[in-house]
Amino acid sequence: MKKHEIKQFDHIVIGSGLAGLTCAYHLAKSGRKVAVFTKRSIDECNSRLAQGGVACVMDKLDTFDEHVADTLYAGAGMCNEKAVRAIVEAGPAAINEIIALGAEFTTRGELGHTDDPNAFDLGREGGHGKRRILHAGDITGAELERVMVKTIRSLKNVSVFENHIAIDLVVSHRLGIPGTNRCFGAYVLDIASGEIFTALAASTTMACGGAGKVYLYTSNPDVACGSGVAMAYRAGAKIANMEFIQFHPTILYHPTIRSFLISEALRGEGAVLKCRDKRTGEPVEFMQKYHPMQSLAPRDVVARAIDSEMKRTGEECVYLDIRHHSEETLRRRFPNIFAKCLEAGINMAHDLIPVVPAAHFVCGGIKTGINGATNIEGLYAVGECACTGLHGANRLASNSLLEAMVVPKAAAEDIEARYETLKSIHPDRRPAMNWTTGNATDSDEEILIAHNWDEIRRFMWDYVGIYRTNKRLERAKNRIKLIRKEIEKYYWDFIVTADLVELRNIATVAELIIDSSLKRKESRGLHYNADYPFLEPELECVDTIIQRDVRRM
Ligand code: SIN
Repeated sequence: MKKHEIKQFDHIVIGSGLAGLTCAYHLAKSGRKVAVFTKRSIDECNSRLAQGGVACVMDKLDTFDEHVADTLYAGAGMCNEKAVRAIVEAGPAAINEIIALGAEFTTRGELGHTDDPNAFDLGREGGHGKRRILHAGDITGAELERVMVKTIRSLKNVSVFENHIAIDLVVSHRLGIPGTNRCFGAYVLDIASGEIFTALAASTTMACGGAGKVYLYTSNPDVACGSGVAMAYRAGAKIANMEFIQFHPTILYHPTIRSFLISEALRGEGAVLKCRDKRTGEPVEFMQKYHPMQSLAPRDVVARAIDSEMKRTGEECVYLDIRHHSEETLRRRFPNIFAKCLEAGINMAHDLIPVVPAAHFVCGGIKTGINGATNIEGLYAVGECACTGLHGANRLASNSLLEAMVVPKAAAEDIEARYETLKSIHPDRRPAMNWTTGNATDSDEEILIAHNWDEIRRFMWDYVGIYRTNKRLERAKNRIKLIRKEIEKYYWDFIVTADLVELRNIATVAELIIDSSLKRKESRGLHYNADYPFLEPELECVDTIIQRDVRRM
């Protein structure tokens, strides 16, 4: 039998979106050995699909105070103001740093503006009182990811392991070691060979992105399975505010083009949401009934309004109307979206764009400080899988790419400052860290994986979506309990595959969302439970924390 392999690094980063690569980049500055593990190819991630841009105060008519105030307002009383201020104020430096690495943001001149043509064009999105969204056309995430991939590829002390999926974290409490819970690394499956090895390091940073695939309809790519939150939870990390799932109001509604985002930046340029009048069939505006900011209201308000209009009219979608702009302007400002819509037979300059809400972003996650540190020694979390307190109960548009650039740097600095301490906690207990698969047999039960995956996504959409009630949440809880039991059984019986690992993570995250939703006895931000009223955001509100005791008995 082949000997179980242990690979030693100084630092491990799990995930290769903007947050993960930014963290690896800053960690690598020390010259130490950094490993990045990523499930598919290096740039297959949520960050790459981000269209709108990066919210950042870059204009003399804007202020940090205003950006902070907009973030707190959207967050419905649940943001950590200290974290918000620190991240917002660190924004301009982070932007300048990525520009120095080669990122190109769109200037006003490129869009044909003659006044101040060299300044960056600043877009506007829902909940922002000012124009403050830096963008690279309408593919900002792809541009930032391109730059970070190129940068990381050029660093000799960073090894990128593509098609490697982390299965679980190696933590002292699960190994039966008493004292503070410490993270030593992760068990990793090399998807191509099927081999599982243990990767050890002084620090492990989770940068695993979002969990949109927990829901039937999502803007997220297939990799967004909530694996960071699920692994950290199983290791004993505190998980916060998982009830706050953001549904993006405007995903293209089309029979074959799935999950395509129609950026909020369109509404920033004056696009208006409409639904068809039941009597005349004419498209009519409706957001004035819901919020003074109308189509540019915070996302939770807009998604709920669309949900309610679709129910009222019985229609399967609503529409975005941006026909007040010329084709030339739209092609120039939104080249990617324009082309995709054309592919769908929609010319944005002449036609309404049919849209529906879909799961987009997890505002909760692994609880961290603004330096990414978790409650487990040596374990850090950055990006969407982390909950720093920036987003509160509803993320302000385009704040996440900002967070993905600022917090990983702070995390890397904290790790470097504590390196000697973190390194010294490596135990000499390597044999205990081997992976055991029990009585593994080949899984001929792939149908079970596909079926469970599908079932979870459907009931999460129906019962734990934009509109929740206690009864629906209880129903979802009963379903997930059964499924989780089934998964745990074949998890230990069968050879571990990437599909099985992802299904197990999806199920864990679904349960965390359901449990957190059941714990919150109010409606707030993105968590709307029809059995409870919305309370004043100013009223004191507490994080929903779920933590598992993983000490071995
Ligand atoms: C968008 O472009 O609408 C998405 C921006 C975001 O989710 O922050």
